[in-house]
Amino acid sequence: MKKYVTINDIKNIRHTIQEAIQLKKNPYQFENLGKNKTLVMLFFNASLRTRLSTEKAAKTLGMNVMVLNIDDCWDLEYDNGTIMNLTKAEHIKEAANVISQYGDVIAIRIFPTLTNKEKDETEQVLNSFVKYATVPIVNMESATAHPLQALADAITISELKTTSRPKVVLTWAPHPKALPHAVANSFIKIMKEIDVDLLITHPKHYELNSNITKDVPISHNQVKALKDADFVYAKNWSNYHDYGKIISVDENWMLTNEKLGNAKFMHCLPVRRNVVVEDAVLDGEYSVVIEQANNRTYAAQIVLKNILKTL
Ligand code: CP
Repeated sequence: MKKYVTINDIKNIRHTIQEAIQLKKNPYQFENLGKNKTLVMLFFNASLRTRLSTEKAAKTLGMNVMVLNIDDCWDLEYDNGTIMNLTKAEHIKEAANVISQYGDVIAIRIFPTLTNKEKDETEQVLNSFVKYATVPIVNMESATAHPLQALADAITISELKTTSRPKVVLTWAPHPKALPHAVANSFIKIMKEIDVDLLITHPKHYELNSNITKDVPISHNQVKALKDADFVYAKNWSNYHDYGKIISVDENWMLTNEKLGNAKFMHCLPVRRNVVVEDAVLDGEYSVVIEQANNRTYAAQIVLKNILKTL
């Protein structure tokens, strides 16, 4: 694997999921693969799980890890030909190449603006690093994608499923803040690659990017959609068409035990209790959110392992 920017960078997703499950049984089996190699992690935004699980994964492979919070760094310019006489102190061309001198792999977290859809969809920051860095890039959640989360989600479903083709429902849930589409996008993309029946449910006018949801059934009736589900993944996303806006905070869409039935409950975390999902679900026997968070380590580890093998 030369980079992990989207799930399309995985050649065989089913095989990679099984590799990750095997790695989880003996995490130190490649403990020397990353010896004398360094992972640089760049954070433009906050993180708990991604930061710790990716660092843990890298160290379990024997890598050194350096973390830079971009707030502590020079303001970067991404456009070409700019006269840099305002606030931007360094161009991405130098910055990405310089970071490549210190790190053998660069991992980046950069959220969308949620104000300019066209700009967010160009993934300017992430793609500038892909273009100007001389080492592999790993996406730790960008404007439109969260492929490490999606891989962890797919590992979790593969481990916990009790039928060969489970019914998986991705349901929109209310949230007071405008949230990105990245988790939902990558979850849908990876679910299309494995043996599940995926159904999306959301309030009217909350359609996601139709290029991503193409061929996936969509229902506006959450209760009907959840019927007989094996896995229910709750996630808020802001409006895609009236880009970044919140047009509904309909509390009726909060996930409850009654709606969940016997399905396993999934969420990428962090989650707002009693807004997205009621306490009883998170504290109940069907919640697998901690297993999902644990699998973030093995998703990152299998990705880093497969990148290290190409260095
Ligand atoms: N799920 C996830 O990416 O968590 P963090 O934002 O805490 O990294």
